[in-house]
Amino acid sequence: MKAVVIRNHGGPEALSYEEIPEPEPREGHAIVKVRYCAVNRLDTWVRKGIAGKQLDFPHVLGCDIMGTLLKGFGGFKRGEKVVVYPAVEPDSPRVLLSIIGGFSKYDGGYAEMVQVPKKNIIKKPAWLDDVEACALNVSYLTAWNMLQKSRCKKGDTVLIWGASGGVGSASIMLARALGFRIIAVASGKQKAERARQIGAHFVIDRSKDDVMMETLRHTSEVGVDAVIDHVGAKTWHESIEVLSVGGRMVTCGTTSGPEATVNIRALYSKEASILGAYLGSREQLASLHRFMRLKKIRPIIDSVFDLKDAGAAHSRMEASSQFGKIILKIPS
Ligand SMILES: NC(=O)c1ccc[n+]([C@@H]2O[C@H](COP(=O)([O-])OP(=O)(O)OC[C@H]3O[C@@H](n4cnc5c(N)ncnc54)[C@H](OP(=O)(O)O)[C@@H]3O)[C@@H](O)[C@H]2O)c1
Repeated sequence: MKAVVIRNHGGPEALSYEEIPEPEPREGHAIVKVRYCAVNRLDTWVRKGIAGKQLDFPHVLGCDIMGTLLKGFGGFKRGEKVVVYPAVEPDSPRVLLSIIGGFSKYDGGYAEMVQVPKKNIIKKPAWLDDVEACALNVSYLTAWNMLQKSRCKKGDTVLIWGASGGVGSASIMLARALGFRIIAVASGKQKAERARQIGAHFVIDRSKDDVMMETLRHTSEVGVDAVIDHVGAKTWHESIEVLSVGGRMVTCGTTSGPEATVNIRALYSKEASILGAYLGSREQLASLHRFMRLKKIRPIIDSVFDLKDAGAAHSRMEASSQFGKIILKIPS
C-alpha cells in the first residue's frame, strides 16, 4: 500500500511517500481503509523527534483518521464509514494515554490502511462530510476538554490564543456556542477578521498590540476567568498575568517551547490554577459530536493536500499559514 513513512527524524523532507506492506490482521483490531487524515502539530513533533521519546522506525504518522472498515464486526458493517478515537494504552505509567501515529507502537493514518483496536472505532457522524469528520478527533476534542476543564459558565470571559490554529479555532466556535465571552489572539489583520467571523467578541492582533494590556483593557483590569493556552513557553507569562482572582489557565501544547518562566507570586496571590489537558476521553468525543450537531458547528477546513504532498502540508502548518485544519487525502 502507499504510505508516508519516516525512517529518521528530520524536516519535512524526512516524510517519504513509498510502498509498504499492508498491516497484518491482529486479534481485537480492525483495519480501516483511510480516506482522510488531518495534520496535527503532534505529527510535526514526531517527525522532528523530542528528546527522551523513543520511536521504532519506519513509522507512519497521523492520528486524526476517517475511513471505511475493511471487515465488519459487532454493530459495524464492512465498508461502513468510521472515525478513529486516537488514544491507546499509555506507554508509561505516568502518562494518561498514548496516541496512534504519535510516540506509540501504532502506525497512523498517513497510509492507505491503518490497524487500530476495535474499541477505538466510532461511527462517522452522518451530518459531517468525510473530510470534516477526520478533523474533530484531536484539535476539537482537546478544545472541548480544555473548555470543560476551564469550569467557565455562560457569560464568563475566556482568552483564547492562536485563533487560526486547530485548537484555537475550535475553542472559539465551541466557547461561543457555550455562551462564553471570548477574547481571541491572532496575528495579522486577515486572521483577526476570520477570528471575529467565527465567534470571537474581541480580537487582539499580536503582531501589533500588547496582549496583556489589551486583555486587561477589555476586562476593566479584572482579568479573564480562564485562558486556553496551547502555545507554551512564549505565552505562559501573559496567560498567568491576565487571569482574574481564582482564574484557570488550561494548557495543552508547547508550540513555542516546553519550558516557561512563571511569576509564582502572580499565581498564588490570586489563587489561580494551571490545569493540563491531554486529548479527551471517548465519552467526551461522543458528547462533542452531540454538541456540534445540536449547535450546527462544522469544523473549519483550511486546505486539502494529496498524501504524497504531506511535506508541503507540514510546511504550511509550521509556517502558521493556515486558518483551521490541514487535511491529507489518501489515494483510493
Ligand atoms: N495535549 C493535547 O492533547 C493536544 C492536542 C492537540 C494539540 N496539542 C498541541 O496544541 C498546540 C496547537 O495545536 P494546533 O493543532 O492547534 O496547531 P496549529 O494549528 O499549528 O496552531 C498553532 C497556533 O499557534 C499560534 N502561535 C504560534 N506561535 C505563537 C506565539 N509565539 N505566540 C502566540 N501564538 C502563536 C499560531 O497563530 P499565529 O497566527 O498567531 O502565529 C497558530 O494559530 C500544539 O503544540 C499541539 O501539539 C495538544
